Formats: sequence, structure tokens, C-alpha cells
Amino acid sequence: MSNTGPAHYEAVESASIDELRGLQLARLREILGHAYDRVDHYRRAFDSAGVVPADLQDLHDLARFPFLTKADLRDNYPFGLFAVPRSEVVRVHASSGTTGKPTVVGYTAGDIDVWSRLMARSIYAAGGRPGDIAHIAYGYGLFTGGLGAHYGAETLGCMVVPVSGGQTERQVTLILDFEPRIILVTPSYCLNLIDEMEGRGIDPRSCSLEVGIFGAEPWTDELRAEIESRLGIHAVDIYGLSEVMGPGVAQECVETKDGPTLWEDHFYPEIVDPGTGEPLPDGEFGELVLTALTKRGQPVIRYRTRDLTRLLPGTARPMRRIERISGRSDDMLIVRGVNVFPSQIEAEVLKVDGLTPHFQIEVDRSGNLAQLTVRVERSPSTHRPEDDLAGELAGHVKGNIGVTVDVVVAEPGAVPRSAGKAQRVVPSE
Ligand code: DLL
Repeated sequence: MSNTGPAHYEAVESASIDELRGLQLARLREILGHAYDRVDHYRRAFDSAGVVPADLQDLHDLARFPFLTKADLRDNYPFGLFAVPRSEVVRVHASSGTTGKPTVVGYTAGDIDVWSRLMARSIYAAGGRPGDIAHIAYGYGLFTGGLGAHYGAETLGCMVVPVSGGQTERQVTLILDFEPRIILVTPSYCLNLIDEMEGRGIDPRSCSLEVGIFGAEPWTDELRAEIESRLGIHAVDIYGLSEVMGPGVAQECVETKDGPTLWEDHFYPEIVDPGTGEPLPDGEFGELVLTALTKRGQPVIRYRTRDLTRLLPGTARPMRRIERISGRSDDMLIVRGVNVFPSQIEAEVLKVDGLTPHFQIEVDRSGNLAQLTVRVERSPSTHRPEDDLAGELAGHVKGNIGVTVDVVVAEPGAVPRSAGKAQRVVPSE
């Protein structure tokens, strides 16, 4: 594996599948031992499952080891899963946690270094290059988006503009004045930036941006097409989660735009049946389970992400891809027995000429059966009557997803905006 490619295209990115599996097995053996020897939770969990690290003879043996769940992270709040002395942990992040305590994750200096290199690799795969100006509009703070992107862009050799989320007017001014080539932001917040430019009479296509790296929430190919055409950029998908590292676990390559490549030298993926936890073969849909092969501060063995996807063979890189995440098992709405993800509604909204991608789904659970109302904004320039827009959307949803929804067409600006992840599902008032 000699490094002959350009900087930040690492030799391992073109390693053969055999080389990768060998590397994964060696790293997995090491990290299982590290977790078992140093973290009470893992020792107890492995003992009660009747396994020891030495039982891992090949990669399939990982399925014998117990899962790590969000509840395990909460039970060990705040620092119970650290595998190194507290003094060796140089940073913590935490997920907001809508109920109860947040989940905390800790990183050693070495973990931060790996994360920064993987984010640099991700930005490079997305089309970013050393010397680019990178506008970072992911939130800075306990959320991993801002700082993760920041360290990665600096490692790649970009000039970073650490704007964080919010203050949309100022963001647009900075984009026009500083002329960044790349932007890292949630897809839903990017729409606000585009709207703001258009509201000022500026054609967003004329701005300096060429590459957008979008993630932290589900989004669709329909929204990709919308953002690419309105902003005149390449829009690519980045996946990650704080429990496993942060952004940069998987990155879509700009040359193929066919789902994020999972950086398999640092993460081992499995797909399991969300109900039974049984492993499923590549190509089948299920819940993504991730093991971090090199994370030492807080080891992550078989984390149940709740994200639903499937594993696909490599294209731009030999490493496997994940299909664009359709949603989380906890965000799935069940309407008269039909499973509905907010991202499916997004795809239908974008098919209606005269509607914007700003929408929320109100769920009324007061009756026996959940009833959905899609509140969506009309576009400021449309002349189509609201009834007509609502009827067309309801028809598409019924025809393509198979559920009956009420549609309320709202005035431009009426659907609440978020500076980070969009809140798609809200209880009805
Ligand atoms: O959202 C990390 C991140 C920041 C990823 C910036 C990408 C860009 P958490 O707040 O812990 O971390 O949320 C993780 O967000 O389990 C998915 O459900 C969802 N998610 C993240 N990226 C994507 C994506 C960050 N590209 C949770 N597509 C994950 C769909 C995504 N869902």
C-alpha cells in the first residue's frame, strides 16, 4: 500500500478488499481487547454473553459480541465508558438528548487526530482541495458538526470560516464577501441561505460556491437536484454520528454521487434486523450497526445506530457504500400500517411545481389511528391556487407512499426554520 496519490487521498482508500479485511480483523482484535480490559461495561457485557476477545477468529465472529445501545451510554453517564484515564481525554461532545440526560462521548488526542484526517479525506472525496475557502455553517459546540468539519478542513489545508449555524443574513454577506468554494451545512439550513440570496435579488448560482457537503439529517435525491440547480454546486452526502465519532464516518464521492463510502479502515459496518438484531447480508435493508476500529478514548463496539440503510459494493473506492439513510427507526411514522419516513414526504413535496421544500409533518395521535397533516410553504412566485397545490401533493403522497394525508399550504416564511437539523415531525396543536 504505497502512497502514490495526491495529498489526502490515502493509499488505504484504494486498498483491495482482502487487504481491508485483514486490516479490519487486526484492528478489531486489538480494540475488543482494549474495551474488555479497560471498560467495566464491556467486561460485564462480554462475560454475560459468554465471549472473550480471543473468540474473534474472523470478522463474522463479531456477531457473537453484545450490542452497545443508546441506553448503555445513558446508564454510564457521563464518563463511565472511558477506556483511558480522564486526564488523557482532551475533548468531549454530547448529543442534545430530547429526553433525560445527554449522551457524552470522549476523545483522546489520537482520536481527534484520526477524526480530523477522516474529515480531511471526506472533504477531499467531496471535491474540496487544499487552499479552498471552507464556509462551515454546522453548529459549533457540543454538537460534533462544527468542530468536526473545522478540524478536518484545517487538516486538508483549507482556510476555514467558522460561522456556525444561524444569523442567515450575516452568513450570506460573508459568502458574498469571502467567496468560499465549499460549504458544510445541513441541507435544510442551506435552503435558508439560498432563499436569503434570492430575497436580496442575488442569483445564488453566481456566488463562488462549487461544492456543498450536506448531512446530519436525512435528505433526498430530489433535494439534491433542487440545491444543485438553485445554487449551481455539487451537493454530496456526509454521514456520521456523535456516538461513533461525528461527521466523516462515511462520505459520498463527488465523481459518483451514489451514496456515502464508509471509511472501512476505521469503522466496521453490519446491518441487522431492527426487530431481532440478527445480522443481514450485504444488500438487505436494516439497521446499521457500527464498530469503531481505532477509537480508544471511548471504544464503540457494535453500536445500534437506529439508522436504516443497506450496504452496497464500492464504486469510486473499493470500500463499501451505505445507501443514503432513509431515516431512523425512531422517526418512522406508522399510518394505518404503512411505514412513512419524513424524507419520503420531502421527495413528494419537491415534485409539485409551486411548493418549496420547507415543510413539517403534524402528527395527531388523539384518535385510534395517527393522522398526518403536511404543512408546506408555497413558493413566493407561484400563481397556482392553494387548493390545487394541496390536492396535487395529497395525490402524490397517496399514489407513491400509500397513505392519506391532509395538506395545508402556508404562506412563504410560515413554516419554522432551524439553524441546524430541521424538525420535520411535530405533534399537532
Ligand atoms: O449529526 C454528525 C454529523 C454532523 C453528520 C454533520 C454529518 C454532518 P448526531 O447529532 O449525533 O451527529 O446525529 C447523528 O443524524 O444517527 C442519523 O440519524 C442522522 N444523520 C447524520 N448524517 C446523516 C445523513 C451528527 N447524511 C444522526 N443522512 C445519525 C441521514 C444523517 N441522516
